Amino acid sequence: MENTINFLKAKTNNFIPEVGIILGSGLGELADEYCEYAIPYTEIPNFIKSTVKGHKGRLVFAEIEGKRVVMMQGRNHFYEGHSMQDITYPVKVMKKLGVKTLILTNAAGAVNADFKPADLMLITDHINYMGTNPLIGANDDSLGERFPDMSEIYKKDLIALADKCAKNLGLKMQHGVYFASTGPSYETPAEIKMARILGADAVGMSTVPEAIVANYCGMNVLGISCISNAAAGVHPEQVSLSHAEVIETANVAKAGFKALIKDIVKSL
Ligand code: HPA
Repeated sequence: MENTINFLKAKTNNFIPEVGIILGSGLGELADEYCEYAIPYTEIPNFIKSTVKGHKGRLVFAEIEGKRVVMMQGRNHFYEGHSMQDITYPVKVMKKLGVKTLILTNAAGAVNADFKPADLMLITDHINYMGTNPLIGANDDSLGERFPDMSEIYKKDLIALADKCAKNLGLKMQHGVYFASTGPSYETPAEIKMARILGADAVGMSTVPEAIVANYCGMNVLGISCISNAAAGVHPEQVSLSHAEVIETANVAKAGFKALIKDIVKSL
C-alpha cells in the first residue's frame, strides 16, 4: 500500500483528493472533461488492469467545481477473474489518499418493471449475491474493524442531496435496492424473478464489493445506477440482451448523468 501511495503522490504533486468517483460502463467521460493527472492502472504499483471494452483503466485526478476529486475511469470486476481483494484495492488507496466521500456509479439492469432504460437510480441499499465478501481475510485494523456495521452504507443525507441536485436539473431519479451477481453471464428470467422477490430493483455485476470496503473504511458512499436495460424476463416481449445495448443506453443517459455528478460534487 505504501508504495502505491508514494507513487501516486509523486505523480500528482501531492494531490490530496476529498471525493472519489468510480465511473461505470459508458460513464467514463467525466474523467476526459476534467483531467489534471491521468495515470494508467498498468503503471500503478499493485493495481490490476481492466479487460472490459468501454473501460479505459486509468486513475484521474482533477478539481471539479472547486473540489479535489480522484476518479477511476473504468473499474475492475470480479468476473474478470481477479480476487475481491484486488478489485477493492483502489478503494483502500482512495481512503489512504484522503477521500471522505465515494460516489459509485454503474450500468444496471432494471428488475423493477416501472424503470425505463436511461433512468437513473439512487442506490438505497444492496444485496450481496456474489457468494463472497471483499473483507474475507486478515483484517487491517488501520482501515476498519473486523465486523463492520452495514446498516446504512448509502448515506441518507447524500441521497437527499443527490435528489435535490436532480430536481434542480429536471432529472427524474428512481430509488432502489441494487442486487449484485458475479456475472459475466446475464441473469436468467428465473434469477431476476428471485431478485425481485428478495427486494431488488436493479441488478449488476459491480459496486457492492467497493461499497462494502468503502463503508468498512468509514467513507460516506453514494451509489448511482444508470438503468441500461430491462433485466431478463422483466418484459416478456424482450427476448435477449447484450453488452452493446448496455453501452448504447449509457450513452443516452450520460449527459444528464454528468451534469448530476458535477452538481453533487459542487454541493458536497
Ligand atoms: N444484469 C446484470 N448486470 C447488468 C445488466 C443486467 O441486466 N445490465 C447492465 N449490467
